[in-house]
Amino acid sequence: MSGQRKFFVIGNWKMNVDKARIDHIAKFMSAASLDPNTEAVVGCPSCYLSYARQRLPDEIAVAAQNCYKVAHGNFSGEISPAMILDSGCEWVILGHPERRTIFKEPDQLIAEKVAHAQQTGIKIIACLCETSEDREEGRTDDVLFGQMKSLAASISDWSRVVIAFEALWASNTGVLATAAQVQEALAKLRHWLRANVSDKVANSTRILYAGSVSSSNCRELAQLEDLDGFLVGSAALRPDIVDIINARRPDVSSLIAHFDRPDGRRA
Ligand code: PGA
Repeated sequence: MSGQRKFFVIGNWKMNVDKARIDHIAKFMSAASLDPNTEAVVGCPSCYLSYARQRLPDEIAVAAQNCYKVAHGNFSGEISPAMILDSGCEWVILGHPERRTIFKEPDQLIAEKVAHAQQTGIKIIACLCETSEDREEGRTDDVLFGQMKSLAASISDWSRVVIAFEALWASNTGVLATAAQVQEALAKLRHWLRANVSDKVANSTRILYAGSVSSSNCRELAQLEDLDGFLVGSAALRPDIVDIINARRPDVSSLIAHFDRPDGRRA
């Protein structure tokens, strides 16, 4: 948690929306009071980028969920950063754990995508992940530092990059990462940036956590020293996303409880 890093929440819709659902989400997000101290983004399927941009309020940015490593050409099914920008959207998610594990995107390809995206000026949410096998077999550090090293080699302008760490073993598995486990992973990544890039980049780069973030666990996690926000999947389709965007805003009910107690401690 640092004053110099603006809290950041991306709600990643994955392949779970159509126009009617985008309208529904846009409606409850527009009606909500969102913390102005949070940078809020949604991750949208490519065919709905322009539609989502038109439906959402201006203060919510739109990200594509993937893109290719060149501006144009004969690459059926792909989209480029230039096309995302041309659709009025400012962000792209690269190396999402589902791209890495289901679609077998290797570090090298993700690095090439990041390098090209950086040349276009689009802003990037660059993802890393740890699977349950990585964790069980004790190779967490090797895997995370390997992915980070590959990403970092492609990044020239860190001001346009947010890093997202996903504990895949805690994403829709029924297992939740504890606050201590989340802090440990994020602190290791920040330490890696300090040791291998610079103090400035380590101090200024936002590092997000992903893995079943919901309205029930976001407030505790939002207080962690090295956590600067969340990449949210399933809860992004529900009004939970509003609570997650507001995770650092003082909770009015707890303030009332606080003032109710004669000793001034929280009830
Ligand atoms: P989840 O997904 O919040 O449903 O675990 C996060 C993500 O993979 O983007």
